[in-house]
Amino acid sequence: MRQIHLAIVGLGNVGRRLLELIELKRETLRARYDREFVIVGVCDSTGGAADAAGLQIAKILELKRAKRGLASYFPDARAETPPCDWARTVAADLLVELTPTNLKDGEPGLSVIRDALARKIPVVTANKGPLVLAYPELAALARANRVPLLHSATVTGGLPTLNIGARDLGVATIERVEGVVNGTTNYILSRMAQGQTYTEALKHAQDIGMAEADPTLDVDGWDAASKLVIIANAVLHRPTTLKDVTVEGIRKITPDDLRAAEEHRQTIKLIARAERVGRNYNLSVKPTWLDKTHPLARLGAGMMGIIYETDINGTIFASIEEEDPYPTAAAVLRDLVQCATMGA
Ligand SMILES: NC(=O)c1ccc[n+]([C@@H]2O[C@H](COP(=O)([O-])OP(=O)(O)OC[C@H]3O[C@@H](n4cnc5c(N)ncnc54)[C@H](OP(=O)(O)O)[C@@H]3O)[C@@H](O)[C@H]2O)c1
Repeated sequence: MRQIHLAIVGLGNVGRRLLELIELKRETLRARYDREFVIVGVCDSTGGAADAAGLQIAKILELKRAKRGLASYFPDARAETPPCDWARTVAADLLVELTPTNLKDGEPGLSVIRDALARKIPVVTANKGPLVLAYPELAALARANRVPLLHSATVTGGLPTLNIGARDLGVATIERVEGVVNGTTNYILSRMAQGQTYTEALKHAQDIGMAEADPTLDVDGWDAASKLVIIANAVLHRPTTLKDVTVEGIRKITPDDLRAAEEHRQTIKLIARAERVGRNYNLSVKPTWLDKTHPLARLGAGMMGIIYETDINGTIFASIEEEDPYPTAAAVLRDLVQCATMGA
């Protein structure tokens, strides 16, 4: 059995669940893939802990549950260093990058990913920021160094939007992509369709931890636009940034709008869309009236979905109900297995 040494940068909602899944699926990973993941380094905003012989997952999770930083894993912990410098000191076969999405400069994830790829370390990430800001650069760096950069969890968490598009539709011409790709806005619009105001629905989403205290990225459409940028780069093979997307959020939608849609047997969803025009695509994110029979109209609160219309693979619709970050962590684990078994 082959041991794969992992360094993980960022151990929040997704990272902690990834560790739980690595424990839960240890036997499956052995039996199906002849692989064992050994955690040789973990780092959060307080600093990092590393041990070439392997850190204890239970102890890491206990520290995080107790809200103590990972720098306290060892009594003689080093002082905090930027995660990029820290990662360079860990002898890992694979780097997992799970820091918060930052659409301004992509940091700290962008430097961590860039540095690992330059050192020929395969990278798996769920972090949209670095890809939205620097997809062509990072993809070229990965190619030049012949190492994978896998990021299937960056778009719609556990729903394999990117894998369907990039792998299963790899020979098709994609005529249109349409998706409900932001869970928070779908939740808010679904509750507004049941009679709540925007403010009530947003507050509820914040109370249950679905929406951030500052919901701007979600409700103004930037999270959905970021996912569309990654789809455009990874699936449609178009070097794309946020500037290429027309973006409108849901703040102006009122219960009256939803009632009017209902009277026409329609509903309103925040739709991310790529529409082929010749060799290019028009990219937009905007609140859209959909007939109630439309597959995306039927997605309830807590769901996301994607439709690909193609020339030779037909029309594919896939959806997910993701109530917690386990499916996202499972997508990260699947990417890790793909990296760990390449060429096997
Ligand atoms: N949650 C989801 O369902 C989901 C779905 C798809 C994609 N994603 C993406 O996955 C990534 C991780 O999400 P999450 O929900 O796990 O985020 P999170 O709960 O905010 O966790 C982020 C982690 O990064 C650490 N961190 C922050 N700044 C750092 C720094 N400068 N150096 C080192 N570590 C740093 C934090 O440290 P502390 O623990 O010390 O604060 C924390 O451990 C994000 O990019 C997110 O957009 C999340």
